[in-house]
Amino acid sequence: MDPEVLKKAPLFAGLEDEAASALAAAMGTIKLNRGEVLFHEGDKEDRLYVVVSGKIKLGRSGSAGRENLLAILGPGQMFGELSLFDPGPRSSTATAVTACEIRTLEHDELMGWLSGRPEVALGLLGQLAARLRRANDVVADLVFSDVPGRVAKQLLELARRFGERREDGIHVHHDLTQEELAQLVGASRETVNKALADFAARGWIRLEPRSVTILDTVRVERRAR
Ligand code: CMP
Repeated sequence: MDPEVLKKAPLFAGLEDEAASALAAAMGTIKLNRGEVLFHEGDKEDRLYVVVSGKIKLGRSGSAGRENLLAILGPGQMFGELSLFDPGPRSSTATAVTACEIRTLEHDELMGWLSGRPEVALGLLGQLAARLRRANDVVADLVFSDVPGRVAKQLLELARRFGERREDGIHVHHDLTQEELAQLVGASRETVNKALADFAARGWIRLEPRSVTILDTVRVERRAR
């Protein structure tokens, strides 16, 4: 049990310690290895999940086997609430990007908490609202931004979530392959690689396996606009 990470989850926002411990105690635990699938798009299942450690990717498949990544989730983030509130199949496939520990909450258990504790409902609504905001930004970027602009934006987003400040810049251990990074940007691997190589040649970033160091944040931010 890692209550500190769990308490970062929107589900726990506003709960005092005793209630947070009771909610944590009602949750199950799942451990996944890199590449293991937690659920598939279209599955009928309505548990709620919270990431305690590791990273999960949420992806959708399109025609001709193409994949698009909706999000990379890290510790404290929650997913699986759409099937809970809008009963229907899972809207994406959840796969472990690294070894992960995940907490689970059954539908009936959550409903009990929601009816008794408005703070829990508010926490969930907060996350839904933030996700809609982000989804609107992603749509706007797909319409208005070019691929390098979207790559720059994605690097900054990954840096905000997983970055670590070092002497020479912000080290971002994103754990993604180049293919996954391209799926997150929503462009071909070739185009995304070209943009990354261009940023590296200009000295804005340094590329490393499954990580990147942002050396010139100002330039990357300017390119993301
Ligand atoms: P559900 O449809 O139950 O299962 C897949 C989950 O992915 C979904 O609930 C959400 O929790 C999550 N999800 C779907 N779309 C997005 C998105 N655009 N950004 C982040 N998470 C999402």
